[in-house]
Amino acid sequence: MSRLVIVSNRVTVPEPGHPPPPGGLAVAVHAALKSRPGLWFGWSGKIDDGPAVEPQTVERDNVTYVVTDLSTGDYNEYYTGFANRVLWPILHYRVDLAEFNRSDLGGYLRVNALFADHLAKLLKPDDVIWVHDYHLMPLARELRSRGFNNPIGFFLHIPCPPADLLFTIPKQEQTIGALSHYDLVGFQTENDRNNYGRYLAMSGGHQGRDGTSYAVDGRVVRIGAFPVGIETADLAAVAAETVDSGFTRELRDSLQGRKLVVGVDRLDYSKGIVHRVEGYRHFLEHEANWRNRVTYLQVTPKSRSEIPEYGDMSDDVNRLVSEVNGQFGEAAWTPIRYINRSYPREALAGVFRIAAAALVTPLRDGMNLVAKEYVASQDPADPGVLLLSQFAGAAAELDAALIVNPHETEGMAQALRTALEMPLDERQARFASMFERISRQDIDRWAETFLAKLSETRRSFLIGQLR
Ligand code: F6P
Repeated sequence: MSRLVIVSNRVTVPEPGHPPPPGGLAVAVHAALKSRPGLWFGWSGKIDDGPAVEPQTVERDNVTYVVTDLSTGDYNEYYTGFANRVLWPILHYRVDLAEFNRSDLGGYLRVNALFADHLAKLLKPDDVIWVHDYHLMPLARELRSRGFNNPIGFFLHIPCPPADLLFTIPKQEQTIGALSHYDLVGFQTENDRNNYGRYLAMSGGHQGRDGTSYAVDGRVVRIGAFPVGIETADLAAVAAETVDSGFTRELRDSLQGRKLVVGVDRLDYSKGIVHRVEGYRHFLEHEANWRNRVTYLQVTPKSRSEIPEYGDMSDDVNRLVSEVNGQFGEAAWTPIRYINRSYPREALAGVFRIAAAALVTPLRDGMNLVAKEYVASQDPADPGVLLLSQFAGAAAELDAALIVNPHETEGMAQALRTALEMPLDERQARFASMFERISRQDIDRWAETFLAKLSETRRSFLIGQLR
């Protein structure tokens, strides 16, 4: 079996004997590496301005981790600057928040070239290479220019907006356009895939007869939708166990019989937390009989705090949460518990299990695995209800959720009431339909499907070249 070489921006090496760190990308990559020899290369998460040193290698649980530090300049220009202040907002449909300058783009291209230089020393001719996320769009071009002829695939974990928005990225041909140097590019949804197909067509690419491949400047790239999943069976078992843990019991006792509503998101403007809290405020304003009978727990670890748009958003959420608590709270009831920290996967599974409803209402999201994790964690005999934004990739699969438009405050408030008052048989039917779907399309299936398509794509390309 060929070795699988995964490349992503951030690599978190698990502590010996501990499960992999939480986070959609990390969990997905570990699943892909579970059943084959593998290497995972990327940034260590550390900044070091000393003399250049070779990347560090750590062996753990049959995976070779190779990590490199970044200099302050690389971190500022590549990660904070171009990846997170240009690509992130534009791919999340927020051109208004993008802050472009040429030196950040230069840093982005420079770090991609640096990653290719490091990889060139690690790669073997029969390795299969799988690159993840928007930080590394030009990496295949860099590797091909260094003579590597391996199969190279790319998966975009975040949304791909319509072509007109992609064209707003300055020098787009060097970043989003450079995806055409991969053999296979995977997206979360058919909608994302179609948006990129249209972009390729508008950039002079020719669609092949199969409808999935495009000829661009003498190269062929195939594009497809591969909705990312979770470890459904495993998480369901963890949730059933954790429900009796001290942590979950303490939380349940603290509710004093009130229903729990939960939200779990990184502190990011794409997650729609302000809109969500507005929806909850409207609910408390107009459904007076629910006051003091429900507690909303919002778990929100801070993220990318050095970026001004994130700081502004954090201030907005703090202000709004304290307004709602001030307006409706009582001596013995806090309407919103707002927490800026993360919890381990096991603890969250217990929280999800006892929550009557989950609010997963991003303004835009590639997939949103919290939606799937909430469903997987439910008690089939007495499941909670998922409120899911129509703008999360997960909505294409989880159509038995209560689908909401996060821009419509009244609609969100109404859906919350529907969720809290939903009869048991309807909750069970909705849960069963969603659970069946996430069990079938789990994380192993996602990795297998993508990698099978990548091998097939490279093979047919090489045969085509011989003809
Ligand atoms: O899925 C989006 C993503 O940027 C991943 O690539 C990353 O693992 C996660 O969000 C957390 O982001 P960051 O590494 O910027 O903290």
